[in-house]
Amino acid sequence: MDNETDGHALTVIDNRTGRSYAIPISEGTVRAMDFRQIKAHEGDFGLMVYDPGYPNTASCRSAITHIDGETSVLEYRGYPIEQLAERSSYLETAYLLVMGELPTKPQLEEWIHDITFHTYVHENIKKFMEGFNYDAHPMGMLVGTVGALSTFYTDAKHVSDPLSRHIQTQRLIAKMPTIAAFTYRHNRGLPYVYPDNDLTYTGNFLSMLWKMSEPKYQPNRTIERAIEVLFILHADHEQNCSTSAMRAVGSSDADPYSATAAAAAALYGPLHGGANEAVIRMLQQIGDKSRVGGFVKAVKNGEDLLWGFGHRVYKSYDPRAKIIKKTADEVLEQTGPNPLLEIAKELERIALEDDYFIERKLYPNVDFYSGIIYQALGFPVDMFPVLFAIPRTAGWLAQWREMIEDPEQKIARPRQVYIGPDRRDYVPMGER
Ligand code: ACO
Repeated sequence: MDNETDGHALTVIDNRTGRSYAIPISEGTVRAMDFRQIKAHEGDFGLMVYDPGYPNTASCRSAITHIDGETSVLEYRGYPIEQLAERSSYLETAYLLVMGELPTKPQLEEWIHDITFHTYVHENIKKFMEGFNYDAHPMGMLVGTVGALSTFYTDAKHVSDPLSRHIQTQRLIAKMPTIAAFTYRHNRGLPYVYPDNDLTYTGNFLSMLWKMSEPKYQPNRTIERAIEVLFILHADHEQNCSTSAMRAVGSSDADPYSATAAAAAALYGPLHGGANEAVIRMLQQIGDKSRVGGFVKAVKNGEDLLWGFGHRVYKSYDPRAKIIKKTADEVLEQTGPNPLLEIAKELERIALEDDYFIERKLYPNVDFYSGIIYQALGFPVDMFPVLFAIPRTAGWLAQWREMIEDPEQKIARPRQVYIGPDRRDYVPMGER
């Protein structure tokens, strides 16, 4: 961004010195570096801004995803998530995120062809995965294996080459479902299933998960579409923890496989991609609709969290949760009723009427209902973050590409406020 202002400035008076500064305001932000000139005395380092967890820091300018957390808006490249979930496919949405525009028919055909072409993994990747323990967490396997891909595609280190970036993008989007499905089969002691490139992206994923002895796996259309919708909803969410990890690691010019492994590692945590697993555990622990009131009381006493509620950005209903709630009903029509859905709906009803949640603007987030769908489909909870990582890969890569192409971006390297001891001399062991 050039340092042009909107003609507005923030006047800052430093009470330590009485000096006044005009800090330009542009696009609703002030530049942190503009505060560095504010010094208490000659030789002072200058003012920094302190923002743990970055709730009020914009780390980049981005044209990919727009969220208005107050009014429940989520748009990819300007297109509302509701329209994409209803009318688009995951691969079309991935193209939109990565390339910036909806594809024409030939562009989409080429994109689908190229991604389908890359769905197989090197046989040594298969062998690599066979080395994991039978009960290895699938997310640990995914993180390790995605990182290992960088050793197979050494051309990926040419991050300044747009063609290389594009090939790695397609490889990663293509191979994530394959690796994810292998982690699932590994835990079950089942042979890995190779991709079926006649199927759609999601149909092939289902085939790699569930194909047994039949010559050709035929995915259930409702379930295939439900996974497609879930993938679209999870494809990007601007500068969240995992995307920030992708950008931070990518900012050192690390190859995109290593950066994606780091992003997936960030997604692993229960406060981010692991929350839907925590939701299921919570619903199972509640066990019955009649116990919902008691659980909500415990949450209000600070004894637990209402998992799947609250969001750093959404201070209203997460628009993805609305769509997922509908998808959950459709899936359960196919798979049979799930008592956890009833408990979840009761929990939502009670929480949305309760002052504790109203005052704190805590509403269901994307994870509140997604776990119920995954569970109804027969996925163990350990697989939930893996199912999130597959579609988020398109978002991570779109963000990584934008970061690489942004001349303003530099290696991510925050400052700190040092609060440790003043300088002191080393004490020999005998004198401690
Ligand atoms: N249950 C109960 N209380 C909550 C919850 C919750 N789920 N979430 C926030 N609060 C309370 C906090 O205790 C705090 O109360 P206080 O003001 O009395 O101290 C207040 O609401 C504000 O919460 P913060 O923690 O400051 O909000 P923050 O933006 O830092 O955290 C987060 C957001 C991490 C998502 C949080 O709401 C949470 O832990 N939710 C449960 C986990 C979850 O569902 N994560 C998935 C997020 S979506 C995703 O990653 C895809």
